[in-house]
Amino acid sequence: MEIRERIAQLKRERRAILAAHTYQPPAVQELADILGDSFALAREAARSEADTVVVCGVRFMAEGIKILSPEKRVILAAPEADCPMARQIPPEQVAEFRQAHPDTAVVAYINTTAELKAVADVCVTSSSAVQIVRRLPQRDILFIPDRNLGDYVRRQVPEKNILTWDGFCPVHNAVTAADVQAARAAHPGARVAMHPECPPDALALADMVGSTAEIMKYIAESSGEIVVATERGVVDRLAERYPGRLHQLCGDCLTCPDMKLTTPERIVSALEGTGGEAIELPPALMAAARGSLENMLRYGS
Ligand code: 13P
Ligand code: SF4
Repeated sequence: MEIRERIAQLKRERRAILAAHTYQPPAVQELADILGDSFALAREAARSEADTVVVCGVRFMAEGIKILSPEKRVILAAPEADCPMARQIPPEQVAEFRQAHPDTAVVAYINTTAELKAVADVCVTSSSAVQIVRRLPQRDILFIPDRNLGDYVRRQVPEKNILTWDGFCPVHNAVTAADVQAARAAHPGARVAMHPECPPDALALADMVGSTAEIMKYIAESSGEIVVATERGVVDRLAERYPGRLHQLCGDCLTCPDMKLTTPERIVSALEGTGGEAIELPPALMAAARGSLENMLRYGS
């Protein structure tokens, strides 16, 4: 049986859906029932009536879906797929900060462990961070862990006093202003769309800054050539649909190894129960982390 048919059959039998991030390999994105950025995955998977969600992404995404839908079976297709940024802060340090600064809101990027979400007031994604921070009642904000996204939010919401942690995404943080200048020289007239996890000096040269879903919308709603400065999964999937229009910034440097670990075969194993990992978290941890994710859905919608 062809792998696509096998997956469809297993999904029917298990009342399962596949939730895939836009950085996944094209062969995985094509199989997805929910395909989107981190915000869309969290919201749509929670809304779904499926019994099982197979997550094609990294661990924090599967944990987030499990926390929002504890009654669902949530399986991470590639259990070793982890986001290094999600663990760049010891949760105890954030808890100590909270105690010392009770009037400061702790805003956690969704790319964090459940333990960090549990000590945050609200989670954000790259598409919702500006809106959520603007709507928070507190003026003082601690933004964890991504310093680049935090810095971007600070510039968009100058009325808030935003402290950032020193974390970063090793993939997007590698982008330099010189890379953008080289891409502009190679593709004169092309616009540059960039993810806010990139460093500030590179972001200053972008025509558009947004999450992966926002970049995809920008591509769909505009014409002309675009240099795409985010993980290559976006261009890898869309290049055929927009021939000659899309250019990946700095070629292979924007590749997240953790996002490339899922394959159609591993999805079959996850659905069959011979592979993948069913996410289980202590109930107290889930309860503590749920509030910040629910606040994200409330302030971000
Ligand atoms: P978004 O899905 O919010 O664009 O975030 C990008 C990312 O790095 C996910 O790991
Ligand atoms: Fe983490 Fe960056 Fe990979 Fe996203 S692209 S999963 S932020 S390392």
